Amino acid sequence: MKMNIAVLPGDGIGVEVMEEGGKTLETVCNVFGHHAETETALVGGAAIDASGEPLPPETLDLCKKSDAVLLGAVGGPKWDEMDYSVRPERAIIGLRGELGLYANLRPAHLYPSLIDASTLKREVVEGVDIMVLRELTGGIYFGEPKGIEEYQGGQRGVNTLVYTTPEIERIARTGFEIAMKRRKKLTSVDKANILESSELWRKVVNGVSAEFPEVEVNHLYVDNCAMQLIRDPRQFDVIVTGNMFGDILSDEAAMLTGSIGMLPSASLGGDVGLYEPVHGTAPDIAGQGKANPIAMINSVAMMLRYSFNLSNEAEVIENAVSSVLDKGYRTPDIMPREAGGCKQVSTSEMGRLIIAEVEKAG
Ligand code: IPM
Ligand code: MG
Repeated sequence: MKMNIAVLPGDGIGVEVMEEGGKTLETVCNVFGHHAETETALVGGAAIDASGEPLPPETLDLCKKSDAVLLGAVGGPKWDEMDYSVRPERAIIGLRGELGLYANLRPAHLYPSLIDASTLKREVVEGVDIMVLRELTGGIYFGEPKGIEEYQGGQRGVNTLVYTTPEIERIARTGFEIAMKRRKKLTSVDKANILESSELWRKVVNGVSAEFPEVEVNHLYVDNCAMQLIRDPRQFDVIVTGNMFGDILSDEAAMLTGSIGMLPSASLGGDVGLYEPVHGTAPDIAGQGKANPIAMINSVAMMLRYSFNLSNEAEVIENAVSSVLDKGYRTPDIMPREAGGCKQVSTSEMGRLIIAEVEKAG
């Protein structure tokens, strides 16, 4: 297979983890006889420094004409003082909107060998396997009106939380379809006891559920869901929720697995899929070889699965990650306090170990 892939490393540890993601992709291609044509472009703070804008038109054009986009992470203290409309984070929002990526898949899967890396007790997290499905192009992130305006001698900051029936229907349908391929349980998360947009959300999800009689559906308020996630995370299979609730709950779900450095994501819905780690640029550890490249490497696996239907190749990467962890290799974020049989490795060493396992599978 021939794939055209836009590579956007971005800022901070995005650059380091992308390095390992890129090598992993190259190795999979060599082993399985595929060809990945990659083109790298600037995004986020790096793009601001070079051209003054976080998502330059060349970068957006490249993404639009590619089959898939791999993104590292964007942002950092250097650009934090900038106006909201031109901050690095705008690039991500812009890409999501421009590419129509309304469905964001964030799998929180606990590797058995990392069970003690979680801050929660072993008996609570053992076997956790949750897919958080976050609506990504609507809700309060995109709603109008928005802005800061003069108000009664001071100012007023406004954002609008709005969802339309078709927006809810399509993400609900994606949620049910994913649940059908898993344990057939869907939890829809809202705040229907107080928000009208959630009242509609719940009604529409119930409507769509009629098309999927095999899927058991339940509804939780977001505050309760946040609590249930740390009380008894194994009750969850697929969680479907709006943009902002999904942003928050996916970080929480990530920590069940030990480190946010483990979690990949896929953003789907348009012609071009976007794949990125759930973590950010981690300015505190950037450039020190401490970053965990596994979220990025597993994002490459998700890309192979969802954009190119190469499930076998995706599994080879995921299994390679598993066996390297089973052998006790750890980046600092997942290193246990008492080393036991574990050995701390750098970003590039972790990448090399995973690649060696991928090669073995060939
Ligand atoms: C995420 C991030 C982004 C979001 C930021 C960087 C805009 O937190 O992908 O979860 O809020 O969606
Ligand atoms: Mg987030």
